[in-house]
Amino acid sequence: MKKLLFNPSQLLTLDTHSKNVKRGTGLSEIDLLHDHSIVINNNFIADIIPNSSVNKNKFDRIIDVTGKTVLPGLVECHTHSVFTGSRADEFRQKLAGVDYEKIAESGGGINSTVRSVRQSSFEDIIKTVKPRIENFISQGITSLEIKSGYGLDFENEIKLLQVINYLNEIYPIDIIPTFLGAHTFPPEHKTTRDEYIDEIINKMLPHIAEQKLAKFCDGFCEATAFTADEIDLIFIRAEELGLNLKLHTEQFNSIGGLNTALKHNAVSVDHLEVLQDDGIIKLGKADTVSVLLPGVSFFLKYQYAPARKLIESNAIIALATDFNPGSSHISSLSLIMSLAALNMRMTIEETINAVSINAAAALKMNDKIGSIEIGKRADFSIFDTEEYANIVYDIGRNLNCMTIKNGEIIYNSAPSVT
Ligand code: NIG
Ligand code: FE
Repeated sequence: MKKLLFNPSQLLTLDTHSKNVKRGTGLSEIDLLHDHSIVINNNFIADIIPNSSVNKNKFDRIIDVTGKTVLPGLVECHTHSVFTGSRADEFRQKLAGVDYEKIAESGGGINSTVRSVRQSSFEDIIKTVKPRIENFISQGITSLEIKSGYGLDFENEIKLLQVINYLNEIYPIDIIPTFLGAHTFPPEHKTTRDEYIDEIINKMLPHIAEQKLAKFCDGFCEATAFTADEIDLIFIRAEELGLNLKLHTEQFNSIGGLNTALKHNAVSVDHLEVLQDDGIIKLGKADTVSVLLPGVSFFLKYQYAPARKLIESNAIIALATDFNPGSSHISSLSLIMSLAALNMRMTIEETINAVSINAAAALKMNDKIGSIEIGKRADFSIFDTEEYANIVYDIGRNLNCMTIKNGEIIYNSAPSVT
């Protein structure tokens, strides 16, 4: 099946010239084309051709996107979308001035969602989460990472990973599962930390690897969660079992997580709000992606990660929502781009690369997705605007009108365009 994505007003290829990543000054290059169309052959991008050489008779289908802006399918590389229950009560407390760490210390926070998830069946969770996946698809997101981390015992962590894998089967987008058993200590292990770590290392991880339930193993290195040494033990085992690594680190305290992640060549380090200058230099030299989550700073009224310094030091920056019930109840990726531009001084072009090619790098999928290059998957997000700057400027509005995954239209809010 040969299709033509015909005549977008603006085509942002984000061409990486086969490097499949953007860093430093390269982060602002978007390779904007006018008067070009994209040839799709089955699931892949076969060619990018000038409109003057288009012969429409050669195609089985023409998708006319005149007046629209085409980007690669967006990549959401850090979410906790699979949860049940609401923490609106904690939001009220936060508005009244109680801070996030205090709420966690007093039994709320992550463990409040754990209580809810443990009481929810597989079917209950699916029912709650489906509209969230559909919301992401409607934004042009064609690859979506989701973490476990609200079960915190064998049965419930596995249940969450099974939910994530099931969602990947029933939806046409790629849903990438991450095991986050090391999110925090569950209440029954507050004073028996070693026992919980032993359960992760000797029970959860081997089962997850054997059943292929997760691509990544993540953790939370923080004063209220795991120490760097505890993360080290978990990462050693996860690596042995063939899982890729990610780490939530340098969010509130710098307690050694970054060094542990770099020692294990983690694919990404996420948060980095309190990242120190020496860490910025290290990330500038590493291939580990710095995933910045400005929604968390906005939601918690907290400091932002040092995006400009990271870009100047040549680090690989990605952006994500961190969608979760406690620290970023925000599921709009374009709002995240606007926050990054306004509060972390990223340019519009930098935010676009950070939610596509570099987010793909944070999922180790950047050889297949994240930019519009010949041979890559035919994943596109099509925006109802002639000017790509509006995606970031039109704050809080979803301008995506069509999502294409593997060459198929999977969302279309403007059927008149085809
Ligand atoms: O990425 N930092 C740790 N975990 C999540 C928050 C989870 C929650 O509060 O439920 C985060 O911010
Ligand atoms: Fe997170």
